[in-house]
Amino acid sequence: MSRLLIVDDDIQMLSALEAALRRKGHTVETASNGIDAASKLEKETVQAVITDLRMPGMNGLELLQHVRRTKPAMPVIVLSAYGTVPMAVEAIKAGASDFLMKPFSHEALDEVLNKLSAGGSGIRTDLQSAEIITQNPLMLSLLDQAAQAAKTQATILVQAESGTGKELLARWIHRNSLNHNGPFVAVNCAALPENLLESELFGYEKGAFTGANGFKPGKFELAQNGTMLLDEIGEMAPLLQAKLLRVLQEQEVDRVGGKRPIPIKVRVIATTNKDLRKLIARGQFREDLFFRLNVVPLRIPPLRDRKDDIAVLTQYFMKKFGGIADAQVDNETVELLDRYGWPGNVRELENIIHRAYALRGRLKITPADLFDQSVDTPESTALQAGHSVSEMERKLIMTTLEQTNGNRTHAARLLGISLRTLRNKLREYRVEETVTV
Ligand SMILES: Nc1ncnc2c1ncn2[C@@H]1O[C@H](COP(=O)(O)OP(=O)(O)OP(=O)(O)O)[C@@H](O)[C@H]1O
Ligand SMILES: [Mg+2]
Repeated sequence: MSRLLIVDDDIQMLSALEAALRRKGHTVETASNGIDAASKLEKETVQAVITDLRMPGMNGLELLQHVRRTKPAMPVIVLSAYGTVPMAVEAIKAGASDFLMKPFSHEALDEVLNKLSAGGSGIRTDLQSAEIITQNPLMLSLLDQAAQAAKTQATILVQAESGTGKELLARWIHRNSLNHNGPFVAVNCAALPENLLESELFGYEKGAFTGANGFKPGKFELAQNGTMLLDEIGEMAPLLQAKLLRVLQEQEVDRVGGKRPIPIKVRVIATTNKDLRKLIARGQFREDLFFRLNVVPLRIPPLRDRKDDIAVLTQYFMKKFGGIADAQVDNETVELLDRYGWPGNVRELENIIHRAYALRGRLKITPADLFDQSVDTPESTALQAGHSVSEMERKLIMTTLEQTNGNRTHAARLLGISLRTLRNKLREYRVEETVTV
C-alpha cells in the first residue's frame, strides 16, 4: 500500500480517481494544480505522484520537472488525454515513470501501480539501495573495472551464476554512471514470449496488431538518457536478437507498426547466467550480438570462490534482518558456512539468515539449515527465493525428520526447537492436509 499524491484540475476526475485508489487501499492526497501539488510535496510524505498534464498555472510537465529536481527518486505517473499524447511522450522523456491514457480502466490503473510497487519489468526509479558488500580482492578489482566503465556509455555484459548479484551490480553501475539522473529500466528477457517482448522493448503504434488501441512507447524509449538492464539475455529468441543488434548499432528503435525510427541514447547492461559462447556454438545466440554486448565483460565470481566474503555478508544480512549492528557468529557456524558449496550463491546465504531469524529470532545456523551437505541434490540443498517462510519451515522440518528416520527427539534437537513445538507443527500440517484434500 502506498501514499500517493494525485493532481488534476478536473474535480470529477480527481474525486473518482481518489475513490478508486482508496478502495485499493492506498492513502491519497489530492491537489488541483501544479503549484498546490508542489507545496503538498514539501509538507507531506508521499511515495509517488500521479498527475494530469494539462492544467492551468503550473502544468503536469512543469510539475514533473520540479519533482525531478527536488525529489529525483520519486516516481511520477502522468495522465494524458487524446490531444496531449505528444506531451505525454515529452513527459516520459523528462523522466516520468509511466503514463495512463484517459479514459483508463481499473486494469490499466492496476497495471501501472503494480509495476510501481513490484519494480517488475516496469520502470524502476532505483529506489532500492545498491550496496555491494565485499572484501574479496577479485570483487574489488571487478568493482574498479565497473566504476571505470560506468563513466563511459559502453555496453556491459555481466556473466555470472544465479544469485551472485548481477542485478545489484547493474544498479550500482547505473548509480555511478553519467546517466544516474536518468531512469533505470529493467526487462527480463526470459519472462515474456517473443512477440510480447518485442513490443515491450520497442513499443508499438496504434493498430499495429489487434488490441493495439493506442500507441505505447517501448522500454528503450522509456530508458532514454538512462540505463537499460536486459536481464537473462541468453533467453532471447534469435529473431529478436537480430532486432536488438540493429538497435544497438543504429541507436534507434522502430516501434512495432511504426513508420519512423526513434533515436535513443541509452546505456545497455545485459546479464546472463548462461555461457554465451556455448550458446553461440549451438547456434542459439548470435555471435555478432555477443561481440556488440561484450564491450566491457564483467564476471562476478561465485560465492564458493570468494569465501572471504561469507563473513562480511553474514554480518550484513544479520544487521539487515535482525538489526544487530555488531553481530557475533560462533566458530562452529563460521566453519559450517565455510564448508558449504553455496549453489545459490549470495541469495542463498541471504535466505538462510533471513529464515534463521524468522524461525528462531536469533542467529544460530545449524546443519539442518544447510540440509544434508553429503546429499548433493539441488532440490534439497538450494533454498529458492519465492518460497514463503512457512513453506520453508515445513520443508525444513520434513527433511530433517527424513534424515533422522522419523526420530522426533533427534530432529527437534537438530532443528533447535522443543519436542513439543515439533509435535504441534506436525499436528498443524496434518490438519492442513486433511483440510486441503
Ligand atoms: N555483494 C553483495 N552485497 C550485498 N547483497 C548482495 C550481494 N550480492 C548479492 N546480494 C543480494 O543477493 C540477492 C541476489 O542478488 P541479484 O538479484 O542481484 O542476483 P542475480 O545474479 O541477478 O540473480 P539471478 O541470476 O537469480 O537473477 C539480492 O537480494 C542482492 O541484494
Ligand atoms: Mg537477476
